Amino acid sequence: MRKILIVDDELSIIEVLKRLLAKEGYVLVTSLDGNDARNKLKEEVFDLMITDVRLPGVDGLTLLKEARQLQSHLAVIMMTAYADVDNAVLAMKNGAFDYITKPFKFDEILLTVQRALSYEEALAENEMLRSRLTTKFHFNLIVGDSDPMVQVYRMIEKVAKTNSTVLITGESGTGKELVAKGIHNSSPRHSHPFITLNCAAMPDALLESELFGYVKGAFTGATQDRKGLFETADKGTLLLDEISTMPVNMQSKLLRVLQEKEIRRVGGTSSIPVNTRIIAATNENLEKKIRGGKFREDLYYRLSVIPLEIPPLRNRREDIPLLVSHFLDLFKKENSRSVDISSQVVESLKEYSWPGNVRELENILKRLATLCENNIIRIEDLPPAIMKKKKGVKHVKNF
Ligand SMILES: Nc1ncnc2c1ncn2[C@@H]1O[C@H](COP(=O)(O)OP(=O)(O)OP(=O)(O)O)[C@@H](O)[C@H]1O
Ligand SMILES: [Mg+2]
Repeated sequence: MRKILIVDDELSIIEVLKRLLAKEGYVLVTSLDGNDARNKLKEEVFDLMITDVRLPGVDGLTLLKEARQLQSHLAVIMMTAYADVDNAVLAMKNGAFDYITKPFKFDEILLTVQRALSYEEALAENEMLRSRLTTKFHFNLIVGDSDPMVQVYRMIEKVAKTNSTVLITGESGTGKELVAKGIHNSSPRHSHPFITLNCAAMPDALLESELFGYVKGAFTGATQDRKGLFETADKGTLLLDEISTMPVNMQSKLLRVLQEKEIRRVGGTSSIPVNTRIIAATNENLEKKIRGGKFREDLYYRLSVIPLEIPPLRNRREDIPLLVSHFLDLFKKENSRSVDISSQVVESLKEYSWPGNVRELENILKRLATLCENNIIRIEDLPPAIMKKKKGVKHVKNF
């Protein structure tokens, strides 16, 4: 669904545009002044912004410049009164997609919106094609060039520029943590810490002091002040992994941090401002947990400002050969021993359903590479569940 930000200080214009564009199925966010719009650009990802040139707070031209910096793919349409066309032309020179003069005709605006969105799409795709080869390095070794993964890369690029909370969902082993790192590494926060907290591995009693820190004397054993992860990851990114396992009382505390952007150490009285980007990940269905009263709905909405679903490996089998060569490369680097694999094996790997996703593939390849004879993985080496009997020429492919 395409998301459009409409900025105008005239409520009537906003209302008209909202009605018109909602009918076309676009998701709309509106703003009555430049400052507010700027904040929204920092928090959410949009596909298009339609903004008046004259605005209270930050004016339309400045907003355009900032939008280009914050969300480089964003197409911008300027609205202007007849008398103000000079400014609109200036806006075009500064990268606006087009301008429309008020009062505008409905079909004119619809057409401009459609053109702007397809332009934005083409631009992003071109860029994606160009960066495909470098993707592996760019996103911290995320391998795969299937369509679903290209969509994931597009989202990573878009969200990296914002401070928005991201909720990464997907089956176990699909690469959620890797994607979270990819977001951090492509974001302006990359030179600050990236910290992962696995909520499931942390006893409930410790979770609060781990996240918020504590002051001396807060409890027995608290012999000195200690920073929590929110503070340690300040200016960086904190990944809350397995968020579904977080106890409900901690969920309320997390919600407060997300709203107020400040924390209070356990036993402390003062509030400490934090600028930590939160990414949450889960392989559970949070909506089901909400229905069961195990997860706070308001926190869910707060976390899933940008939802990012990582597709299971069985839905992107074309990535399997690339992943195989990637993992064998890693094996070679770690063991100084190069292992070949028969193309028949790769075919069988492509047909297996991979309930444990990329992690399962990685583990199986490690095992096969370690145990195979003469440094060649053959069809006979495969576990029965994966082996697909196929007669024919045995061709050994060298990666
Ligand atoms: N696209 C990919 N390219 C390269 N390696 C990958 C990819 N996806 C996953 N991996 C590797 O697979 C393993 C599992 O990935 P990761 O830990 O990110 O999965 P996860 O979705 O967080 O799993 P879980 O839900 O079990 O925590 C890691 O070793 C990771 O490096
Ligand atoms: Mg994980």
